[in-house]
Amino acid sequence: MNKYCNQLNVNFKIEADLTLYKNELGRNHKILPNEILGKEMNDWLFELGLKVELVEFFYLKNKQHKPHCDSVMYDSGFGKINYITGGKDSLMVWYEPVGQDTGKKMENKLARYRGIDDVNQLREVFSKQLQGFYLVNVGVFHDAIAGDDDRYCLSTYIKDSKSDVRLGITQLQERMKKYII
Ligand SMILES: [Fe+2]
Repeated sequence: MNKYCNQLNVNFKIEADLTLYKNELGRNHKILPNEILGKEMNDWLFELGLKVELVEFFYLKNKQHKPHCDSVMYDSGFGKINYITGGKDSLMVWYEPVGQDTGKKMENKLARYRGIDDVNQLREVFSKQLQGFYLVNVGVFHDAIAGDDDRYCLSTYIKDSKSDVRLGITQLQERMKKYII
C-alpha cells in the first residue's frame, strides 16, 4: 500500500462552501469548527473508532507551502484526512532528507515542524494531484504546490476515540482498509 497517500472511497461530500474562507493573497490558513465536515463524515469516523481533533483549512493559488512535517510530537507515519477541491494541476509532494547528515539534522522536531528552506536537503519521493478525500502521511516532509486554479484543502487531525491519541499511518490504513481505493 502506498505509504504517502491513499484515496478514500466514501459516500459523503463536503457541502460547505470553502471559497468563503480564502483571502486575496493566494495563501491562507484557518482553524474551522468540526461541523464543517458534516454529520455523515463525523458518523463515519465514529464507526471506525475515530474522532475529529482539529480541522484546518488551507487555501493556495500560484504558491506552495514549505516542506514540513505536521507535528513536533510524531515521527514518520502520522496520518490525517485531507479533502481537496479545486486546484487543477496542483500537487501534494512528499520528500525525504538527502544523505545521513541531513537526516540527522532533521531529527530536530521543531525544524521538522517549521519546515525546510533549503530544498537541496530534500529529495522528492512521491507526488500526486489530489481531489476528494485522502488519508495522507504528514509525519514525513511534504508540501502542496498550486497553480492558477484556487486550491482548497480541509485537513483533519483525527484521534482514536477510546485512547484519545493520534494514530500512525499504518494503523489508520488498517482501520480504513475497506475504503482505500
Ligand atoms: Fe502539512
